Amino acid sequence: KDMKPFVVNFSDIGIDFKGNHIVRKYNDIKHIFKTTDPTLERENPVIYEVFEGPIQEKEGELMFLITILYPGTVNGEFFMTKGHYHTVENTAEVYLGLRGKGLILCQTKKGEFEAVEIGPNKVVYIPPFWAHRTVNISDEPLIFFAVYPAHAGHDYETVEKEGFKKRIFRGDNGILFVEQ
Ligand code: PA5
Ligand code: NI
Repeated sequence: KDMKPFVVNFSDIGIDFKGNHIVRKYNDIKHIFKTTDPTLERENPVIYEVFEGPIQEKEGELMFLITILYPGTVNGEFFMTKGHYHTVENTAEVYLGLRGKGLILCQTKKGEFEAVEIGPNKVVYIPPFWAHRTVNISDEPLIFFAVYPAHAGHDYETVEKEGFKKRIFRGDNGILFVEQ
């Protein structure tokens, strides 16, 4: 069926949101962090949640979503998303920061690595072929909007195997980049 133009009010989140709601708790993703924390294992808090627009994953469509990445650390390593390449690698993505402050870690299979800031009024462009992971470096929820070609798909396995080149820890005066 053809779609009609529509509006999503993200203040309706949790009330009558029509799209997919993905919730990632600590125990679902604890292997992405360098260390484990028994308290987090016991309490199993939500690390992040994603509200996807009600869009079919097919070429021509644009998927849009909101991510809420909660503040916190695992023994000093800031909460972060799993991170992924797109399965259709030649597809880009745009993020718009709405609240909080974070870093988008980006890397290519050739070994290039970049970290860029996200926050209110900041638009981040993630070119084709760049994996991306978001890190919340603030003390409040990091909220951002994202758009990408709806057929792009998510390749989580490559990131699970190879990791990102750098991890982000809370330091005494600011943040620390730690080599894998
Ligand atoms: O499309 C994106 O890149 C983001 O919206 C992410 O999917 C979202 O932030 C969650 O991260 P991940 O898919 O790596 O778990
Ligand atoms: Ni993506």
